[in-house]
Amino acid sequence: MQSQTVDHHSGVNLGVAPVTYGQGDRPPRGDYARARPDYTRDQDWEAYTAEEHDLYRRLYERQAAQLPGLGCREFIEAVQHLGRPDRIPRFDELSERLYRLTRWQVVAVPGLIPEEAFFKLLSERRFPVTNWIRKPEEFDYVVEPDVFHDLFGHVPLLFNPVFADYMQAYGAGGLKASRLGACELLARLYWYTVEFGLIRSDDGVRAYGAGILSSAGELRYSVCSPEPNRVPFDLERIMRTRYKIDTYQATYFVIDSFQQLFDATEPDFTPIYERVRAQPEIAAGTVLPGETLLSPAR
Ligand code: PHE
Ligand code: CO
Repeated sequence: MQSQTVDHHSGVNLGVAPVTYGQGDRPPRGDYARARPDYTRDQDWEAYTAEEHDLYRRLYERQAAQLPGLGCREFIEAVQHLGRPDRIPRFDELSERLYRLTRWQVVAVPGLIPEEAFFKLLSERRFPVTNWIRKPEEFDYVVEPDVFHDLFGHVPLLFNPVFADYMQAYGAGGLKASRLGACELLARLYWYTVEFGLIRSDDGVRAYGAGILSSAGELRYSVCSPEPNRVPFDLERIMRTRYKIDTYQATYFVIDSFQQLFDATEPDFTPIYERVRAQPEIAAGTVLPGETLLSPAR
């Protein structure tokens, strides 16, 4: 699942600098010439074709059908806020509903954006959503995040007050981490919570991470497969753990509640980054001695 990175690297100059993906030399996919200095742009909703709306509908239906028993309750309850499933939502309409409930907005961006711009938008409670949708032949897998991943995966939990506050705090923490040269450690927290997080329910583990919830295959894998490790949430353990960007995750971290996540990330990370740096990194699939793994659901 390569479609969820926060490892953004600036590339050459166009309107604003586009962003290349990871170490890749591929040109970025979006139209950066039409982006503002803060990397936001118009959604240009009128420009979507009937085929693109239909592709969104098919992606939506496939994922929504999988949610019972796999997605967490908070996500399932909130997904209806996205509005009609048969076409790509208008970001301005969605933002209005979202703003009323949690003071968040969604803003269009041309694609991946630099880390600092991303953190700044989150700290302002503005969630950047890629405006383009994948090609039909990318139905099962798209390398870069598109409007389906960004909207269906990320936006529902922005309707949850505690998670909404966590995302803003993450953005502010990101700006600080940039100054401290700690973005890589903080990116791991985003990866293992916002993108690939699991949460406990009375009926076993469920998914809340956007990378899982927008994935055709990883949703069931992450919740039900006996293969991956499921480790109780531990901030420093997460910051030490490398991750896979081109396969299903080898390890998922499981929170008890969004409040636990918010509370555990509330303290000043400055000394925590120091402590983490003094310890060895952990490979993606490693289980540490004494670590208790959680069972898959069902
Ligand atoms: N408390 C963190 C810090 O001081 C900020 C943060 C909050 C980071 C929530 C991530 C998530 O850096
Ligand atoms: Co994402």
